[in-house]
Amino acid sequence: MALTLLGCAAPPAPVVEAPWVMQARDVAGSVPPKLLAVLQEEIARSGPEGAIGVCNVKAPAMARAASEQSGWAIRRVSLRHRNPKAVPDAWERAALEDFDRRAAAHEPPASLERSELVKDTDGRLVQRYIRALPTMDLCTQCHGTPDRMSPAVVARLKALYPDDRAVGYRPGDIRGAITLRRPAL
Ligand code: HEC
Repeated sequence: MALTLLGCAAPPAPVVEAPWVMQARDVAGSVPPKLLAVLQEEIARSGPEGAIGVCNVKAPAMARAASEQSGWAIRRVSLRHRNPKAVPDAWERAALEDFDRRAAAHEPPASLERSELVKDTDGRLVQRYIRALPTMDLCTQCHGTPDRMSPAVVARLKALYPDDRAVGYRPGDIRGAITLRRPAL
């Protein structure tokens, strides 16, 4: 206590991050803004129903391109998926549930991330990184409450995704996450 008052308390130890975490964060941070730009452009050109193809075809293609470029396996997941392939595995699910809790406790959703060295089922070490994707205003045109979505969008989504669970989100909710993995070197 006295030491603290005199300003002599030891400063908190700096958190040293492994280089792979910083790399993963960079890659995870670079994909969503690119996707957002393409989405905005396409919505301006052909409305939200015309832009469904961006999320449907271009988003997975962009994730694939970023994977090839960076060497990380990249995908998007959600606790309430639209594409049935976007189901999280156990590690991703635990992170997403933690993100929801922290967002409910008013942590800024865009800053929510988790990184960990994880032992795979075959015993190999894997580097894993996951980062929350918050719902922005624009997203609610295709992921929002019914009042935010046009009948054309609702009809198109129903045709493409009969089991769609990715609606009802409000701005600030966590829509899902971008998740990266690669074998530890
Ligand atoms: C023009 C309509 C549209 C808009 C706007 C849109 N999305 Fe999507 N979103 C989709 C479609 C369609 C899919 C399914 C893509 C697929 O088949 O892989 C999807 C899938 C996703 C997924 C993958 C998980 C899942 O549920 O399948 C995430 C995460 C996601 N969107 C986040 C967002 C975020 C965040 C925004 C706003 C920045 C946004 N989306 C805006 C249509 C849209």
